[in-house]
Amino acid sequence: MLKVLAISGSLRKESYNRKALQIAKKFAEEFGAEVSEIEPSELNLPIYNQDIQDQGIPDQVAKLKSAIESSDVILIASPEYNYSVPGGFKNMIDWTSRGGNPFSGKVGAIFGASNGPYGTLRSQPHLRQIMTALNVLLLPQPQIMIRNAAEVFDAKGNLIDSKLLEQLKTLILKTLELAAKISKKEI
Ligand SMILES: Cc1cc2nc3c(=O)[nH]c(=O)nc-3n(C[C@H](O)[C@H](O)[C@H](O)COP(=O)(O)O)c2cc1C
Repeated sequence: MLKVLAISGSLRKESYNRKALQIAKKFAEEFGAEVSEIEPSELNLPIYNQDIQDQGIPDQVAKLKSAIESSDVILIASPEYNYSVPGGFKNMIDWTSRGGNPFSGKVGAIFGASNGPYGTLRSQPHLRQIMTALNVLLLPQPQIMIRNAAEVFDAKGNLIDSKLLEQLKTLILKTLELAAKISKKEI
């Protein structure tokens, strides 16, 4: 059985990306994977500083690294901040990549929601590039941009745009199929 780890790039409780991530997690579970989630707001990571690292990798970073290490697939839903990935999220990734990169060789899926008309169109290529630095394999398509997020999620966190929902489902299925082939595991 594939192990899937979900990570939100937003710390916000009512985050649209967190909502999208819950939907993606549900799809992955329905397809048969074992799914868990990192709660970035509970990590309280310091800003990366090699001086801190030189005193020893902080416990919460070690925990994060081991959660990534033991997963086959990483699902990331991230907002766009100033046309790029949120600084806090990048900080988390930077910490994780030190002292051995646990992302290396994993399969991933990225997607994003924004409260504007472009739906993370400008930040996703940045995130894709970061994932390339980490040696994470991402499918080129489908690319999921959830535009005008305030209008496409209902009060219960459902995505009411059926076309987007179908695209997200396809992304998760294709990603799991790729991971299953690579890891020679069943989904
Ligand atoms: C610092 C900051 C920068 C932002 N920059 C962008 C941006 O470049 N493009 C965009 O579409 N939305 C931008 N937004 C608005 C976000 O799309 C919106 O806050 C969204 O709800 C964040 O995702 P979340 O709901 O998952 O937290 C920005 C928000 C913040 C706080």
